Amino acid sequence: MNIAIIGTGNVGGALATNWSKKGHTINLGVQNVSSFKGIELLKNNNTKVFSISEAVAKSEVILIAVPPTVIFEIIEQLGDVSGKIIIDATNSVRQAPDPYKTVYHCLADKTKAEIVKCFNSTGFENMLNPVYNGEGIDMFMAGDSEKAKSVATQLALDAGFGSCLDFGKADKVELLEKFALSWINLAIMQGQGRNIAFKVVRR
Ligand SMILES: NC(=O)c1ccc[n+]([C@@H]2O[C@H](COP(=O)([O-])OP(=O)(O)OC[C@H]3O[C@@H](n4cnc5c(N)ncnc54)[C@H](OP(=O)(O)O)[C@@H]3O)[C@@H](O)[C@H]2O)c1
Repeated sequence: MNIAIIGTGNVGGALATNWSKKGHTINLGVQNVSSFKGIELLKNNNTKVFSISEAVAKSEVILIAVPPTVIFEIIEQLGDVSGKIIIDATNSVRQAPDPYKTVYHCLADKTKAEIVKCFNSTGFENMLNPVYNGEGIDMFMAGDSEKAKSVATQLALDAGFGSCLDFGKADKVELLEKFALSWINLAIMQGQGRNIAFKVVRR
């Protein structure tokens, strides 16, 4: 797949690295092509840097991994994203893109893209290495687009996750952000450390 990475920091960098290893074409979309967080990602295979609008134009899948409040600036640079897949990895747990509750809701209102919330529910270290004791941990997704969920599932498996569990439709997007906050609570506030992850077990 041709994937635009908007936000090339901790989360965007980890996923760009794993997806490039799987042979995907990575189009980093940045504000300043000569100076940006994650410039070392250009050493990865199949990875180039462009302006945000150029990266989006070249891609059928767009990962959004920026602070939630800058989504309005980003949307102005997206161009026509009708029918494209947008994966929203942001968490509005500290600051929401007012008047919207989440970036997902903002994108759903302002674009005609196929949108899914995914890659938000664990730390970026787990996105770089999702394997614990030889087994891939779980990723989770929510949203109304089955097409976007199918792409997110494939990309979660390609990144090394064991599965991508469906949290439900758009009405579960905020719950999935609260789930991310539960990981943040355990890892950081309760002091368990960032090398912890969620996995659903069955009998
Ligand atoms: N950190 C985690 O473990 C984690 C886990 C799950 C979800 N998340 C969520 O993922 C998102 C990104 O977190 P992160 O830790 O990856 O952040 P980060 O390392 O600080 O990276 C943020 C990225 O956003 C870009 N950016 C900032 N303002 C921008 C703007 N106005 N236009 C275009 N790009 C802009 C930055 O680009 P420049 O370098 O050019 O400024 C940078 O590439 C947040 O919403 C966060 O809640 C984080």
